[in-house]
Amino acid sequence: MLTDRVDEALLECAPRLKVVSQMAVGVDNIDLSACRKRGIKVGHTPDVLTETTADLAFGLLIATARRFGEGARDVAGGRWGDWDPSYLIGQDVHGSTLGIVGFGRIGRAVARRAVGFRMSVLYTQRRPLEQPDQTASFVSMDELLERSDHVVVAAPLTVETHHLISTDQLQAMKSTATLVNISRGQLVDPVALHHALTSGMIFAAGLDVTDPEPIPPNDPLVTTPNCFITPHLGSSTIRTREAMAELAARNLVAGLRGETLEAPVIA
Ligand code: DGY
Repeated sequence: MLTDRVDEALLECAPRLKVVSQMAVGVDNIDLSACRKRGIKVGHTPDVLTETTADLAFGLLIATARRFGEGARDVAGGRWGDWDPSYLIGQDVHGSTLGIVGFGRIGRAVARRAVGFRMSVLYTQRRPLEQPDQTASFVSMDELLERSDHVVVAAPLTVETHHLISTDQLQAMKSTATLVNISRGQLVDPVALHHALTSGMIFAAGLDVTDPEPIPPNDPLVTTPNCFITPHLGSSTIRTREAMAELAARNLVAGLRGETLEAPVIA
């Protein structure tokens, strides 16, 4: 599981280990170079979770921009008063500019959904796609932050992407913008985010992942009204979790048989 650390210390204790099969697409919990050095195969579960995770990203984006969390808390707390033109007014999603940080499988699936909402889509990553994408334009990180009404973080966690979004990046965003993170919590600096949300630097944030995870209930982000947090539900549908489990099992069996894994990180 993505919560298990597979590092030198663990590998030291498992001298006969042949294959590590992760039931997730992200493998930041696995020391890949240590596995490579020992000839251990590593598998993961890409593709089967792409569309489900993009659904969550889009739902989280709408919930954040349109203040679902605050609304639900008001209803539960008996604070739903008379209809008021300025009550919990949010930001439009349709027709706005969406910036996607990390344009892999999931980032591209989010972009496909944005087309239906007549959004202009920008993306950034190390290099533009080799085949230009009809739905999205490649820009620098600075330009994306400056122009986007909504920013979705979908890049994998690596040494380079740790705290990719911190004070400078949040400052570069529009004060009306939202930030959504569906990747790994460590891509966003939580202290900088809390400051940005409480000082009006950005409008709101939607997090499906946090740092630490699970986030303790007394973490300031949990009680920040314009921060909407879901507990790492990206791929959490019955069909997708079954598909992930089956692919992880097939990877494992292939590895034990000495065959090439169906979805390898290290073949
Ligand atoms: C992944 O696959 O990496 C997700 O975070 C779990 O759905």
